[in-house]
Amino acid sequence: MKAQVLKQHGTIDEIIFQAEFDTPKPGPGEVLIRVRACALNYHDIFTMRGMPGIKVPLPVIMGIDAAGEVAELGEGVTGWSSGDRIIVDPINRKTGKLFGEMVNGGLAEYAVVDQDQLVGLPDSLDFATGAALPCAYGTAYRMMVARGNVSKGEKVLVLGASGGVGTCCVQLGKLAGAHVIVAASSQEKLDKLADLGADEGVNYAEHDFKDWVHEHHGKPRIWGEGGVDVVVNFTGGDTWVRGLRCLTRQGRMLTCGATAGFDPKTDIRYIWTFEQSIIGSNGWDKSDIEALLVLVSDGRLKPSIERRYPLSETRQAFADLEARRAFGKLIIEP
Ligand SMILES: NC(=O)c1ccc[n+]([C@@H]2O[C@H](COP(=O)([O-])OP(=O)(O)OC[C@H]3O[C@@H](n4cnc5c(N)ncnc54)[C@H](OP(=O)(O)O)[C@@H]3O)[C@@H](O)[C@H]2O)c1
Repeated sequence: MKAQVLKQHGTIDEIIFQAEFDTPKPGPGEVLIRVRACALNYHDIFTMRGMPGIKVPLPVIMGIDAAGEVAELGEGVTGWSSGDRIIVDPINRKTGKLFGEMVNGGLAEYAVVDQDQLVGLPDSLDFATGAALPCAYGTAYRMMVARGNVSKGEKVLVLGASGGVGTCCVQLGKLAGAHVIVAASSQEKLDKLADLGADEGVNYAEHDFKDWVHEHHGKPRIWGEGGVDVVVNFTGGDTWVRGLRCLTRQGRMLTCGATAGFDPKTDIRYIWTFEQSIIGSNGWDKSDIEALLVLVSDGRLKPSIERRYPLSETRQAFADLEARRAFGKLIIEP
């Protein structure tokens, strides 16, 4: 089969993508799936570059998020039939291994997963929509709902709002009845975010978002008002302290990642003086994917899918993602 295989860590130019690969066979309890859509995530860029502390078994087929059809059942698999439309829960809950990172993933014509990783995809939803959900939207769901408890009437600032996680945070914030403020690096992205329901936007390539918040929502005061209730910050880097400075008294910083740097300088004074909470969120439960499917089927949530590429153009898709040319999700269709 054709696959996009990471043979060594490096930059897009250094690594080797396209390759022929043996079509895998499903073992006991496993299922072979024919991949129809695979969504990229910024995590794939980290996997490509190599991350400190994470040893990826190379070569590996990348691609965390896949949707497709059941092609072959391994011994002992029950409840599924050839041709069933499915999404893959990327986490194998028995081994803890992540699909497309620690085991071969969805950037290929076929992939093998444990039967417990299958989630049925309703006929009304296309494969790209299904593939867009698990990693980015599942993480956003857990962060905004289970961990962050974003509620009606709260002011929520989403940094990096134009990405996969971000576009879902914006929509979930609106569904919760929050006032959603988005930060993005271009007017074009801000316009698209307004179409998704964002109430206000700041171009943080042109304005310091902290100054903008102070100007439009007041500077937080220790025993008073000002600022926003929640900052969603999976960017890290030099946004970290400025994010803390946007928070109103007893505000919450939600984080699930650090696209721009995981070891930023911090300023602990803001945390105690304003009684702030920093809430981490990691991944999703299978039930989060199922909850998202209900929201999408009901038309309350619509994954933002910017572009689709054939498998052979994966390299271009990686380049678009890395260069921040993407909005929402990029989909590879093997
Ligand atoms: N813990 C978990 O389980 C989990 C799961 C999913 C994702 N994550 C993390 O969440 C973050 C977002 O993931 P994603 O897949 O949504 O990424 P994405 O689609 O690439 O979106 C990231 C957004 O961040 C903004 N950004 C700000 N600084 C950036 C920089 N230095 N480089 C690239 N983009 C930058 C970009 O928008 P602008 O150009 O408008 O700034 C971009 O749209 C990543 O750090 C990822 O690892 C964690």
